[in-house]
Amino acid sequence: MKFPEQISENRVWRSVVRHGVRASNRNRAMVVMESMVLHLHPTKVRRRSLDFSNTYFLGAISIILFGILTVTGLLLMLYYHPSVPQAYDDMKELQFTVGNGRFLRNLHRWPAHAMVFVVFLHMLRVFYHKTYRPPREFNWVIGVVLLLMTLLLSYTGYLLPWDQLAFWGVSVGTNMVKAMPVLGPKVRFLLLGGNIVGENALLRFYVLHCVLLPLAVAFGIALHMWRVRKDGGLARGERSARAEGGVAVAKTP
Ligand code: HEM
Repeated sequence: MKFPEQISENRVWRSVVRHGVRASNRNRAMVVMESMVLHLHPTKVRRRSLDFSNTYFLGAISIILFGILTVTGLLLMLYYHPSVPQAYDDMKELQFTVGNGRFLRNLHRWPAHAMVFVVFLHMLRVFYHKTYRPPREFNWVIGVVLLLMTLLLSYTGYLLPWDQLAFWGVSVGTNMVKAMPVLGPKVRFLLLGGNIVGENALLRFYVLHCVLLPLAVAFGIALHMWRVRKDGGLARGERSARAEGGVAVAKTP
């Protein structure tokens, strides 16, 4: 027996992965359907919809960035206390004293900037490929909510270092919220836990940034991906569709 078969044909492997990979299209589909991890993917995908020029992988890059942010965020939480003035001291300690602390901060900061940028580019890609059209219009709406939550994640993270930039940035931002007609002052009060940017505001932004928004974004991404599948997989994009002589966007069933 050759080396790859030695791995894929023994009892231990077979107890986890029940179907061999090579035999037939049916067998390939069974492997995907019966595997806990692989079943997230559709069993069949149009080859052209995976072309780089169809998506520029921008949605996938957004998910990877969100993953990096979750891991580095969890590590940062080990060093951070959401209280005044401890929050600022923690950040300074991390920046100047803890080994690799500055690297860890940067590993959280740059992917955060990149995620805002990449999600925005992904939205532009969807717009210019016209793949927001039926049956994908609901997924566009989910996307808009994801974009807003990405911006909110960025904004709530801004207060956490509790430095001058954070304090005044959030003061200006929440005053803009206050200018909103009717609900403005109430929303600001709710966000800050009072009328000033102080201890309560820091705690609320911390809970939003570290728990509520990441959970909401994770749920939103799952819903977004589920919709991609239910809407008939990725649209092929105008160029690929023209090359195949078909329509770019699937018609509403
Ligand atoms: C956290 C933010 C987001 C993540 C992680 C995300 C992820 C993805 C992924 C992985 C795909 C499939 C591959 C691709 O098209 O690149 C996709 C498709 C799609 N996304 Fe997003 N997305 C996000 C935000 C948005 C936004 C802001 C919009 C629009 C306002 C949007 C609208 C869509 C639509 C309509 C599709 C289907 C496109 C097609 O079939 O060609 N998404 N998204």
